[in-house]
Amino acid sequence: MMQMFDNPASPYCRKVQVLLRETGQADDVEMLYAVGSPTAPEKMPVAHNPLGKLPTLLREDGPAMYDSRVICRFLDDRAGAGLYPAPPRLWDTLTLEATADGIMDAAVLMVYEGRCRPEALHHPPWVEGQWAKIERALDVLGDLWMSHLHGPLDMGQVAVGCALGYLDFRHGGRDWRAGRAALDDWFAGFAARESMRATVPHA
Ligand code: BEZ
Repeated sequence: MMQMFDNPASPYCRKVQVLLRETGQADDVEMLYAVGSPTAPEKMPVAHNPLGKLPTLLREDGPAMYDSRVICRFLDDRAGAGLYPAPPRLWDTLTLEATADGIMDAAVLMVYEGRCRPEALHHPPWVEGQWAKIERALDVLGDLWMSHLHGPLDMGQVAVGCALGYLDFRHGGRDWRAGRAALDDWFAGFAARESMRATVPHA
């Protein structure tokens, strides 16, 4: 059986968890709880992934695999599920996934600023710069991507669902929904999927 270093708060791990459920592979991967950050690397899977990041997938017949985009592509191919469709739609799927992953990157960095750096070193303009990235990306989702989001299920949609779920989880005090009714409506529907309901982030 495959194993995956996983954390239930991580939006990157959630992408894989959702894909596993959507493609009927949830029982094929054993989850290994992991935590860590660059300032506390002892609990990170550094023996398998030099970057220590989650998720990291241990396959039965090959080297450890990372990051979430590689793992998701591998597991989608393994199941023949088509969550990464053929070109030319693939280019849109990958761009949408990259946009969602960028939202996660900025949102996680904001959390790490508070969690990993001493208070005296906190730099509010840097944090606000991360939030500005997220706001711009959310606006682009609403302006350009609604039709794709309402199309056939793919990993771009899964990634956006996980990114928005993480904003609710860690940045609920900032109202990402304000002025974004179409994206809010889409997320309400997407979050109701069984795969999303089973993977709601928690500490
Ligand atoms: C979090 O606690 O927000 C978190 C945990 C693991 C990876 C990313 C974020």
